[in-house]
Amino acid sequence: MSAKSRTPLVAGNWKMNGSKAFIRGLLDDVQSELQPLALERCSVLVFPSYAYLYAVADQLRGSSIGVGAQDVDERPEGAVTGGVSAGMVRDLGCGFAIVGHSERRTLFGESDSTVAEKYDRCCEQNLTTIVCVGETLEEREAGQTLEVVHRQLKAVTDRVGVDFAGSMVAYEPVWAIGTGRSATPDQAEEVQASLRACLAEVDAGLAEATSILYGGSVTAENAQSLFEMNNIDGALVGGASLKADNFAKICEVAERVKR
Ligand code: PGA
Repeated sequence: MSAKSRTPLVAGNWKMNGSKAFIRGLLDDVQSELQPLALERCSVLVFPSYAYLYAVADQLRGSSIGVGAQDVDERPEGAVTGGVSAGMVRDLGCGFAIVGHSERRTLFGESDSTVAEKYDRCCEQNLTTIVCVGETLEEREAGQTLEVVHRQLKAVTDRVGVDFAGSMVAYEPVWAIGTGRSATPDQAEEVQASLRACLAEVDAGLAEATSILYGGSVTAENAQSLFEMNNIDGALVGGASLKADNFAKICEVAERVKR
């Protein structure tokens, strides 16, 4: 299996943005921007806030655009005020979830082991999971980038081994998220190649087959140079995913470059 045989994927992380009207309009616009592109290779996912998850899943029923949750609780159910379980996400008709986003790690103090528990809950519900990893600027400057991202990934893969198959990894350097300062293609490629090597320690076939996305200030302008890298199989897009034309352009670039 080669890089070309991995399915390119572009995912929009809408974070805590929008209103009922905005989300509805954004989704309408994304659908109409994507329609003429007739994507054959590139998979497209959107991750709205929980508040709009049902409405978005409902609108996307029967569409080729997948929908998922930005997070799930690490507990399966019960007395967790404010929590949303992986089972609920599945029940709403979603097939995907993100775990370990750096905003969850920093704003909510989620540890590697919490992220691994969340991953387990997603697997129990057959949610396809994107595990996010990424170093802070201080960690990068201290030369700890690879150590940090390997530790974050291994927190999950050490538990599940080859059963990680079908899941995805997103490399999102914290310093690149929402800053307009994307990692350079070479910087991202170096880390993503090393994440793939980390997966190869579990199983060579797993490493070859797993899609590794890049996230952090991806735009319609820089997508091409990022997607030209062998180990960048797609993108997790925040800010630029809130504009349907930019998001569609990124999908179009992934389809073309990863053909
Ligand atoms: P950004 O966010 O594209 O706005 O940098 C990416 C992310 O947090 O997933």
